[in-house]
Amino acid sequence: MIPYTYKNLVVGNDIKIPLKNGNYAVAINMDNAATTPPFAQALQEIVNFAPMYSSVHRGSGYKSKLSTDLYEASRATIARFVKADQSRDAVIFVKNTTEAINKLSYRLCDGNEKSVVLSTEMEHHSNDLPWRNKFRVDYVEIDHDGRLSMNSLVEKLEQYRGEVILVTVTGASNVTGYLNPIHEIAEIAHKYQAKLLVDGAQMVPHIQIDMKSFDSPQHIDYLAFSGHKMYAPFGSGVLIGPVDTFNKGAPEYTGGGTVRSVTRNEVSWGDPPQKEEAGTPNLMGVLALQAAIKMLSMVGMQNICRHEFDLWQYTVDRLRSIPGIVLHCDIDPGKPRIGIIPFSLDGMHHALVADILSGEAGIAVRSGCFCAQPYVRKLIKLTQTQTCKKDKQSQDRPGVIRISYGLYNDFNEIDVLIQILSRIVERKDYYIQRYMKLR
Ligand SMILES: Cc1ncc(COP(=O)(O)O)c(C=O)c1O
Repeated sequence: MIPYTYKNLVVGNDIKIPLKNGNYAVAINMDNAATTPPFAQALQEIVNFAPMYSSVHRGSGYKSKLSTDLYEASRATIARFVKADQSRDAVIFVKNTTEAINKLSYRLCDGNEKSVVLSTEMEHHSNDLPWRNKFRVDYVEIDHDGRLSMNSLVEKLEQYRGEVILVTVTGASNVTGYLNPIHEIAEIAHKYQAKLLVDGAQMVPHIQIDMKSFDSPQHIDYLAFSGHKMYAPFGSGVLIGPVDTFNKGAPEYTGGGTVRSVTRNEVSWGDPPQKEEAGTPNLMGVLALQAAIKMLSMVGMQNICRHEFDLWQYTVDRLRSIPGIVLHCDIDPGKPRIGIIPFSLDGMHHALVADILSGEAGIAVRSGCFCAQPYVRKLIKLTQTQTCKKDKQSQDRPGVIRISYGLYNDFNEIDVLIQILSRIVERKDYYIQRYMKLR
C-alpha cells in the first residue's frame, strides 16, 4: 500500500469540491494523463527562488547571472534523468510535447518530397499532424488489442526502403496505457537507416527512460515530453536530440536569443540549444520541472511504476465484476503498460458517465477520444460497434471514459470509484434522467 506521504507530495489532494446535491467531497483526480497537480516541492522551489529571479541570458547583474546559471544547469539534470548523452545531445526547452514535436518536424524538413515519416495508428494528434504537411506520412498498424504491430513496422520500412527518415512513436499510449518496446523499435528503425522519435509525454512521468548511448543500436534519437504531465505545470517541456540536427539553418521561430550577429542584410544564427529557444526563456517553468525530476528520482521510478501498476490491477479486477462495463484494453498483467484504463458503460454515453462521476463523487476522469481520434475509433469499432452506433445517433460523438493514475492516487479512491460505478449500473435510468437535464 502507498505510504501516506506520497499523497502529500502534491498540492490540492485535500480540496473539497461541490457535488450535484450541494454537499462537498474531497476531489479525486483520475485524469493524470491530461495533466497532473503540482508537486508541493516544485511550487516551493519557485517561491524560494522568486526573490532572485531575473532575466536569463540578458543581464550582467548578479541575479541575472544566477538565473542564467540555474537555467543552463537544468539541462544537465534533465539529460541525466533520461540518460541522454550530454556531450552530443541538445536539451531544448519548449512549452510542451506538442511544441517539441512541431519543432523537430521543422528541423527535419529538408524539402525532399520523397522523405517518409512513419507514425503509428496509436498516436496522439500531436505526434501525427505536425508531420502531415511536411512529409509523406504512413502509419504503422495496430493489432486486434490495439497494440503496435511490429510486423507492420517492418513491412512499412521494407515498403519505403531508403525513404523513411524517421519513425515516430509514443512511448506509452494516452488511451490504452500500452507501453511500446521503444528499444526494439529503435533497433529495427536503425537497420533501415531511419531515426526514432519517442513521444514521451505519457512515458517519462511513469517509468525510467534510458535513451542509451549513440553507439547502441537501441539508442533513442529524439525524445519529447511535457512538464505539466509530471507534476510541474508551469509551461515547460523538453525536446532532446543530437546537436547536429539543430546546427544548420534557421530555427522556425526567430528573434531575440537565436542569433550571433545581425545586420540589415545578414543574420548569423547562434548555436543550439539557445538558437532553438527564441525569446525570453521560461526560467520558472524549467526550475519547476527540474524540481519535479528530483522528486520523481527521490521517490524512485521503479516504485512509481510498481505502485501505479498495482492501482491498475486493483481497478481492473473490480471493474470486471461490474455488469455492463466494457474495457477497451487488454488486461494481461504480463504486458507492459502504465496506469491507464479506457472503458465504457453499456447503454450510457461516455460524457454522461464522466459527468455523473464528477457530480456524485467528485471524481475527475476524461471522456471522448483524448486527441487520438483515429486510434479510439479503431478501438471502439473492434470491440464495440454497437455502442458506437448508438452514440452516433444520440450525440454524434463517439468515445470512451479514461481513468489515468499518478503516483499519489490510492486504493481508497478506487473503492469510491467502484462504489459509484456500481450504483450507476444499478440505477441507470435514475442517473440518466438526473444528468441528461444538465446537458
Ligand atoms: C501521448 C501524448 N503525446 C502528446 C501529447 C501532447 O502533450 P502536450 O499537450 O503537453 O503538448 C499528449 C497529451 O495528452 C499525449 O498524451
